[in-house]
Amino acid sequence: MTETVRITDVAPRDGLQAETTPVPVRRKADLVRAIQRTGVAEVEVSSFVSPKWIPQLGDAPELFADLATDKPEGILYSALVPNERGFDSALTANRQARDARGVERLIDKVSVFTAASETFAQKNTNATIADTIERFRPIVPRAHEQGMRVRAYISCVVACPYEGDIPPTAVAAVAARLLELGVDEIDLGDTIGAGTPETIGAVVMEVIDALGGRSTNQFGEPTLTLHLHDTFGHAPECVRAAAEIGVRSFDASSGGLGGCPYASKPGERAPGNIAMSTLVRTLESMDLSTGIDHAMQAEADRIASELIL
Ligand code: HMG
Ligand code: MG
Repeated sequence: MTETVRITDVAPRDGLQAETTPVPVRRKADLVRAIQRTGVAEVEVSSFVSPKWIPQLGDAPELFADLATDKPEGILYSALVPNERGFDSALTANRQARDARGVERLIDKVSVFTAASETFAQKNTNATIADTIERFRPIVPRAHEQGMRVRAYISCVVACPYEGDIPPTAVAAVAARLLELGVDEIDLGDTIGAGTPETIGAVVMEVIDALGGRSTNQFGEPTLTLHLHDTFGHAPECVRAAAEIGVRSFDASSGGLGGCPYASKPGERAPGNIAMSTLVRTLESMDLSTGIDHAMQAEADRIASELIL
């Protein structure tokens, strides 16, 4: 039987967080709705971070209120939260959607984020890795009380724009600390797209060791996800290497939008996420099922590309 791979579209969040031209809420909602018609398991809709740090996503409450009007069955919405304040904002969005629209749970998952590089953690969240993890500690039990999943991103799993190469053991050490907190999913971010099949394979193996056999979580979903940015065109080979080792959850973005502004340097913009169509083509060439409708994906790609014209 063909195995299925779980896919998350991160275009509305990672794709739009570095856009210099403001994108109106209505058009972001159009993008999310186009993405959810593709058959993807999850849409990473936005972030509840400081609007001083990421002004592009300061409209997360309005976007979620719009999406509450017609959230379809069977799709998960997630949002990034850097601290308890962000988590409280996600809960407020859920409460408002319940009160105004009768939506049982609008945001199904919160995604916390740290890094395997101290410098990147400072640049991105103004905190040490240890301090970011302390910020997440109260979030995990509170999310679980609400039946919400917790994803934990680790950035710079292959290399850091400031520190250079990052050893897989450093990534696994951060993963182990996050797993101790009780997060449901570890998402390995190759933030600057430095990965090759060898380096991605090495870090994935190390983290699988840290997972100690926990390949699925309490929600029956994969515990390990790979989040690739595609700078040098190596992302498809990296997907292939990771899938061969057994990774069954990937992030990608419609239209290949994306990039963390805190991974950009003057004159050198952070690279986009692996394009959804590239991810789907790669996985399907390995006889893995993605559940993505190609025609609907082409439409989501079109809408995504129009947003950044
Ligand atoms: P800080 O400046 O150290 O903290 O920021 P602060 O507590 O002094 O807060 C500064 C201001 O933000 C205050 O407002 C807070 O109230 C407010 P003021 O009093 O000055 O008016 N604030 C908030 N507002 C809204 N929501 C919140 C919130 N928290 C504080 N949750 C902080 C620390 C973590 C808040 C900041 O550094 C931040 O928001 N960083 C987010 C950066 C970010 O979103 N980066 C992109 C996502 S990560 C990524 O792209 C990588 C990934 O794709 C994986 C990969 O590719 O590797 C996930
Ligand atoms: Mg990213």
